[in-house]
Amino acid sequence: RLLIIDFGSQVTQLIARRLRELSVFCEIHPFNTVDDAFLKEFAPKAVILSGGPSSVFADGAPMPPQSVFDLGVPILGICYGQQVMMHCLGGQVERGHGTAEFGRAFVKPTGQALDLLQGWFATDREQVWMSHGDHVSKIAPGFEVYGTSPNAPFAITGDPSRHFYAVQFHPEVHHTPNGARLYENFVRLAGFKGDWTMRAYREEAVAAIREQVGDKKVICALSGGVDSSVAAALIHEAVGDQLTCVFVDHGLLRKNEAEEVVGMFRDHMNLHVIHADEVDLFLGELDGVSDPETKRKIIGRLFIDIFQKYANQIEGAEFLAQGTLYPDVIESVSFSGGPSVTIKSHHNVGGLPEKMGLKLVEPLRELFKDEVRALGTELGLPAHFIGRHPFPGPGLAIRCPGEITRQKLDILREADAVYIDQIRKHGLYDEIWQAFVAILPVRTVGVMGDGRTYDFACALRAVTSVDGMTADYYPFSHEFLGETATRIINEVPGINRVTYDITSKPPGTIEWE
Ligand code: XMP
Repeated sequence: RLLIIDFGSQVTQLIARRLRELSVFCEIHPFNTVDDAFLKEFAPKAVILSGGPSSVFADGAPMPPQSVFDLGVPILGICYGQQVMMHCLGGQVERGHGTAEFGRAFVKPTGQALDLLQGWFATDREQVWMSHGDHVSKIAPGFEVYGTSPNAPFAITGDPSRHFYAVQFHPEVHHTPNGARLYENFVRLAGFKGDWTMRAYREEAVAAIREQVGDKKVICALSGGVDSSVAAALIHEAVGDQLTCVFVDHGLLRKNEAEEVVGMFRDHMNLHVIHADEVDLFLGELDGVSDPETKRKIIGRLFIDIFQKYANQIEGAEFLAQGTLYPDVIESVSFSGGPSVTIKSHHNVGGLPEKMGLKLVEPLRELFKDEVRALGTELGLPAHFIGRHPFPGPGLAIRCPGEITRQKLDILREADAVYIDQIRKHGLYDEIWQAFVAILPVRTVGVMGDGRTYDFACALRAVTSVDGMTADYYPFSHEFLGETATRIINEVPGINRVTYDITSKPPGTIEWE
């Protein structure tokens, strides 16, 4: 394994990304959890020191244990990681004072060959992305300079005899177009064969779950989303019937969704699934509620109560399975963000484990979303299931602004099904991050045949996004929109007007509430 010591850079995750693309298995650990004992136990084959927002001059500046440099393994320092290396190995770092550099820069070779740079300088200069205030002013003994930029005379430094390398720029970002080559060279000279595959991951994960769980019981809140589905399938492979899933049907699901999810897991994959039909309870408590945050809070609270009620029926359950992903883990250890404003209360079962005295099983903690999808495929989940758009925990409640009624939910389910059918038929589903219909709390007048109608208006939403944090509306053709509107109005009684939402995020959010 390769160890990435995280000093808090916004882009540390991208380093892991680049390494995974090279089929190298790595783990990111925050600097303050890495000490001598940790290093001994982890026994990394190579180490990368990430960038970070700090200055080596700051009081208590983040540092790795000195012993990392005595492991005898290749080390690559990036940006702040470079400064750390110079600081720890006898070089010198100076404060910014007019030499700060942010953005695009060009690095020129100094003429000496370096194994790390093989095949890198395709022309006489390479574009890189810089983001630093302080800079190295004297390199450590044993190091030489292999690349310079106008503001970073020590842009690329290295001591090939120890396989220590340190660069001032960020090779992991998109704006360093050939950065992947540096990582490739680094892992190759560290002896990685690039043989890390999903099959290997599956085998390791199954063994680790067996070891953790032993002969105890595990419960899992199955939502039908990709993450909880893959986690459940993996844990089932590891411990079989020791796993029980609870699928909470809150009456806010899409057309046929409950049957599809429960049917697939219960009948096709032989998982033990409890179908908790709590539609009356949820819709009863939501009756007359129109404030979005109140809706979210009611659903979140009931969900936990109900899950707990069913889980209590499973005697001797000691573990709770969760589909936590790598980005969630990193976010929770990152110290870059300040206090942030709550835009929406997100629906999750955090807090449950302590309340119920359960331990967590989180077999996806080391994976990115697309890797989870690959693992799902490896585990035999059907492709259409794995490629499904995200669906929020509060479900259709937040696609029904204003008061929620059974009638509105039924209309919404039908309209949504027609819309998604249209998108699939036109081959657009996989190009879109998320698409859905929202039913609006207004009725408008229309004319159908020779009669007057007075029905609900709806809005179609479709966005492209990479992570759901920012999004753009999808540019459907007018023909597609026209055809879809006609179909919805003809096929869905209760809707007589269709609009298309062209708001990006920000300033909008993806969901309507
Ligand atoms: P917004 O509407 O905040 O949504 O732009 C961003 C992404 O998050 C999903 N979403 C949720 N997912 N629980 C979830 O599991 C929630 O409470 C929740 N609220 C929004 C939303 O569908 C989109 O993919």
